[in-house]
Amino acid sequence: MGSSTFRTAVVRVPGGPDSIEIIDVPLVEPGPGEVRVQIAAAPVNPVDLGVARGLFHTMGLIDQPERTGLGWDFAGTVVATGPGVDLAAGTRVAGLVSGFDRDFGTYAEQLVASAADLAVVPDGLDLVTASTVPLNGLAAVQLLDLLGDAPADGNRLLVTGAAGAVGGYVAALAPDRGWQVTGLARAEDEQFVRGLGAEFTTDAEPGWDAVADGAALQERGLALVRDGGAFVGVQPSAKPASERGITVAVVVAHPDGPRLGGLLARTASGELPARVHASMPLDDVAHAHRAMAKGGVRGRYVLKP
Ligand SMILES: NC(=O)c1ccc[n+]([C@@H]2O[C@H](COP(=O)([O-])OP(=O)(O)OC[C@H]3O[C@@H](n4cnc5c(N)ncnc54)[C@H](OP(=O)(O)O)[C@@H]3O)[C@@H](O)[C@H]2O)c1
Repeated sequence: MGSSTFRTAVVRVPGGPDSIEIIDVPLVEPGPGEVRVQIAAAPVNPVDLGVARGLFHTMGLIDQPERTGLGWDFAGTVVATGPGVDLAAGTRVAGLVSGFDRDFGTYAEQLVASAADLAVVPDGLDLVTASTVPLNGLAAVQLLDLLGDAPADGNRLLVTGAAGAVGGYVAALAPDRGWQVTGLARAEDEQFVRGLGAEFTTDAEPGWDAVADGAALQERGLALVRDGGAFVGVQPSAKPASERGITVAVVVAHPDGPRLGGLLARTASGELPARVHASMPLDDVAHAHRAMAKGGVRGRYVLKP
């Protein structure tokens, strides 16, 4: 680059895919504990579609005077380091930036982030695949933290949306914590869900010890939990009310460099699935958003800034 600015995709007046603009913004130098990353890949996640259409502005979760950044996770290469960082320039890293209300995002050529929030991408894992891990992999492990270890006398876990990004990771990781997993997904997803080691259904009956609601079925998901069981949702702004003695929690994904490192290692080894649908230049961001909005996409559209 060698430039004092970089390109990034933002919304100024949110109104869906066509309101996304690519603009030049000034380069930022990393402070203590921070690194600047040249982003190679940034996935399009469902939350980004909500940001672009103004959903979270309307809810009062975003209040940016000029522009709102898009994108939560990324993979790329360290290009500059602040004091107290022992990552060398050239190191391949992945990470997550969280929180809605920000004027920057990962749909960008460059990003300054805390080194503690990043993980080194293992050799043999490409950056496009690595970029799809942080948001949804960390959401899954943090969802499982909320659920806890399975009780010996009631370990039947239903994962809704088990072919999706969050649901797929939950289905793959929940057995580590003693859960016996059944994945609820579309009929065409049976092979993928069984390939994660889970049982499969397209039509779950009520009575599960716990439900991990990767499909965001909300109250319909809660209705599938037995009396006194557990439910963990994925929509922090819409936590279903508890009923029938059910413990209700909602995950809020947050950065965790060390655990991200573990998820990347398990992706590199093939133990966790790679979730890339297609990759495309940053300039095709509106196309990627429109395609994702149609539903039925398995794996992520990944932007290459
Ligand atoms: N709170 C957090 O920190 C956090 C973090 C990450 C994601 N999330 C949220 O978690 C949700 C899932 O995200 P994601 O990236 O995993 O989305 P995704 O990849 O689109 O996965 C959702 C899956 O659920 C399936 N599905 C929807 N309704 C279904 C139904 N009735 N029966 C069976 N399957 C159904 C979808 O299938 P079709 O495509 O065929 O509809 C899709 O496979 C989103 O709401 C996202 O915003 C929250």
